[in-house]
Amino acid sequence: MTLPPRIADEAALFSRMEAFRAGDLPWRDGRAWALVYGVPEDVERVGKRAYMAYLSENGLDPTVFPSVMQMENEVVAICLGHLGAPDGAVGNFTTGGTESCMMAVKAARDRARALKGITEPELILPVTAHAAFHKACEYFCVKKVLVPVDPVTFVADVAAMEAAITPNTIQLVGSAVSYAHGVVDPIVELGQLALKHDLLLHVDGCIGAFLLPLFAELGAEVPPFDFSVPGVTSMSMDLHKYGFCPKPSSVVLYRDRALRKHQIFSCADWTGYTVVNPTFLSSRSGGPVAASWAVLNYIGREGYLDLAKGMLEGTRRVVAGIEAIDGLRVLGTPQTNLVAFTADERPIFRIADAMKDRGWYVQPQLGFHGSPPNIHLSVNPDCLRWTDELLADLAECTAAAVAPDVAGPDLGAMLAGVDPKQIDDATFAGILAMAGIQGSALPEHMADINELLNSLPPAFTQEMLREFLNQLYVPA
Ligand SMILES: Cc1ncc(COP(=O)(O)O)c(C=O)c1O
Repeated sequence: MTLPPRIADEAALFSRMEAFRAGDLPWRDGRAWALVYGVPEDVERVGKRAYMAYLSENGLDPTVFPSVMQMENEVVAICLGHLGAPDGAVGNFTTGGTESCMMAVKAARDRARALKGITEPELILPVTAHAAFHKACEYFCVKKVLVPVDPVTFVADVAAMEAAITPNTIQLVGSAVSYAHGVVDPIVELGQLALKHDLLLHVDGCIGAFLLPLFAELGAEVPPFDFSVPGVTSMSMDLHKYGFCPKPSSVVLYRDRALRKHQIFSCADWTGYTVVNPTFLSSRSGGPVAASWAVLNYIGREGYLDLAKGMLEGTRRVVAGIEAIDGLRVLGTPQTNLVAFTADERPIFRIADAMKDRGWYVQPQLGFHGSPPNIHLSVNPDCLRWTDELLADLAECTAAAVAPDVAGPDLGAMLAGVDPKQIDDATFAGILAMAGIQGSALPEHMADINELLNSLPPAFTQEMLREFLNQLYVPA
């Protein structure tokens, strides 16, 4: 395809774009229990208006567009206040949780190199830490050291983390809350561990940190998890999740400027303008930060407490409802609005497909390190009206779910011990085809695929997913 012929008719242009939505998740009806966050309509309107108002301003140079920097500084100040940060704490706006987590690892790596001479850095991660940290390790050449968690509560095992510390360790990671099970790691103990070994501690609050202080204020039991805990040196918190701001929007926060300094990229070694960027992007729209500033101020403390109250009560109903369904089991004790449950005797991924057939989106999660395959639910404000219907359908789908009569070949057993790096792309494509995936066609049902991925060693699953994506993104 060369450049396309002009479509001067705006209506025709936009109607073609609308047609692309045909296969999308219809999230506006509130039946999506993951991936979207249920932003109230008026909040969406305000966010979009603010986004458009600053769409073209460039955050690249704060001396040219101080407005964008001012809004960023105000957003960061709100977030620091929300998370008990001391005077002198700082932070930056980023394009999402992944970038916030990655920036914290980059700062830790560069600080360790500058202050301790560490050239082979290691990051200690409970297996429940978000994949964003794995990405950071891959991008920044940091060795990831994975540590098991408690098999019943799914919170980080502090003794196991201490045992993993070496002279090359640069940082410990804890979650508040973890995505998979919605639980808070023992941050106080991790803070003590960090202080004892002179290490940094990053608390990943991308999905939980906005809600936790609100839940605490509403009377829920919330363990200490933020900057008020000695030893916590940085935190990440997404605004595009339960801050209900438009994507992309997150913050990475540091206890002090001395640490944040290592996050910053600065370059005067070329012929163009001087470049100094706090985060990944160089040119960046002022839209996301303006939208976040507007939404934070528009919803305000009272509005956030109201939204949190609905989610807290709704989550309690959902958890009690799932526990009452014969055959289902909630994993750990959800501490925000995220719930994971498994079915010990039933094929869980077939339950997810059956729910999809009834118009729900629920999110399958593969089993890993003592966490069985399960379904994840995010209890969002716009889902609350559907709680009873969801639970009724879940009970019926669970009762009806059966494994297929003929089991496929046990690829997990066949491939155990095989190095995925030795397998060529064509073989991966063949395995994907066995699960019903060919080319860029998206499958209607996912149970076969999820069961296959779940049975494979994770290193294989990763390579299969890489091949899958490589097939999916092809020029139209
Ligand atoms: C705990 C946690 N950290 C990091 C992330 C990554 O966030 P994003 O998808 O915005 O990059 C998520 C996303 O759900 C998360 O739950």
